[in-house]
Amino acid sequence: MEPSRPCEIRPIVPDADAAADAPANAEFRDLVRVRNAVEAHTLGISSLSQTVEELLPRLTDDPHRRYHHVGAWVEGELVGRGLLILPRAEGSVTARGVVDVLPERRGAGIGTALLAELEDLAAAEGRHVLQVDVAHGTDPGAEQLASPTGFGHVPADDPGARFLVRNGYRLEQVLRVSRYDLGNPGQDEAPPEPDDDFALHAWVGATPPQWCDDLAVLKTAMSTATPSGDLTVTETVWTADDVRDRDARQVRRGRTLLTVLAEHRPTGRLVGLTEIEVPADDRPAFQEDTLVLPGHRGHGLGIRLKRRNLRELRRHAPDATTLLTFNAEENRPMLAVNEALGYRAIAHEGSWEKRRE
Ligand SMILES: CC(C)(COP(=O)(O)OP(=O)(O)OC[C@H]1O[C@@H](n2cnc3c(N)ncnc32)[C@H](O)[C@@H]1OP(=O)(O)O)[C@@H](O)C(=O)NCCC(=O)NCCS
Repeated sequence: MEPSRPCEIRPIVPDADAAADAPANAEFRDLVRVRNAVEAHTLGISSLSQTVEELLPRLTDDPHRRYHHVGAWVEGELVGRGLLILPRAEGSVTARGVVDVLPERRGAGIGTALLAELEDLAAAEGRHVLQVDVAHGTDPGAEQLASPTGFGHVPADDPGARFLVRNGYRLEQVLRVSRYDLGNPGQDEAPPEPDDDFALHAWVGATPPQWCDDLAVLKTAMSTATPSGDLTVTETVWTADDVRDRDARQVRRGRTLLTVLAEHRPTGRLVGLTEIEVPADDRPAFQEDTLVLPGHRGHGLGIRLKRRNLRELRRHAPDATTLLTFNAEENRPMLAVNEALGYRAIAHEGSWEKRRE
């Protein structure tokens, strides 16, 4: 006799061209509900919830990635979801996975069934390296699993950590989630701009046409610039068209991007970047990419860029209270800037990898 299956698993295919509330996106709306419920349960806060309108342009195919969604149903109710993200970069062997099961449905094999489905999909796509980034609860008193980078750890008994270890994944890196409290004056008072080789340019929303090419160079550099331990990394090549596509998606998501760039005056080239993404309501803003090209580090450009963007954030969103950022625990230069500005650690994320030959 066949063993009884814990759930029914099948694809969910969102329609990026239809409205978020269209019948075609009914299952995707359900999937977003599961995503938000699991995140709120893990972190103990619901302010990071995302709307269907925000996630539809983000979790559907773009110039750099393809997205496969699957759902797990029990008696007609969606109780879990899986997501597989496939980088389009030529020669990429990686796929990124997410598995979420509603807390009240755990321990019945649903997570294992969803992960197996994602691994089969990845194998069919020729991707033998599977990666997972996941938030873990904090439990300072519990036994910890140390990051092989030597920086950071996650509770060994966290359900996500146990699940991944049991399924053959290795913890490769720990990311620190830090919060900047905009209600506090903090350290973001920017001194007057010095008269040196660098000019800062700030804007709200779409990238001015004259910067699209150079911004694509910075975004490409960013794709391999952050410390990644022993994780398998493939460069993501950006073009000016990709920058415009990203800007158009931001508008569809109802989120505003605040950008500050550093121009190296003697050459007229862009050498530094920082971006903050702001929602339309009072949920947290997110610090996105920050990069100073290697030849221009050591001049205090990182903190100068970030201070300037904090000022832009206060001006553009005076009621915003919280800014969040994610950094590798071993990324000392970036953490030093953030700590100097007044960011405080609030949670951790694990980056896991499984290689199948
Ligand atoms: C991790 C997560 C996906 C697991 O989902 P799940 O449905 O509980 O997973 P399973 O039921 O397959 O496995 C969980 C446990 O139940 C056990 N189990 C599986 N089938 C079972 C069954 N039929 N009866 C009893 N126990 C069972 C498993 O052996 C496993 O034990 P463990 O905790 O000692 O490892 C879920 O906890 C979750 O959504 N966490 C938040 C997000 C996350 O961490 N995702 C993982 C990384 S993407």
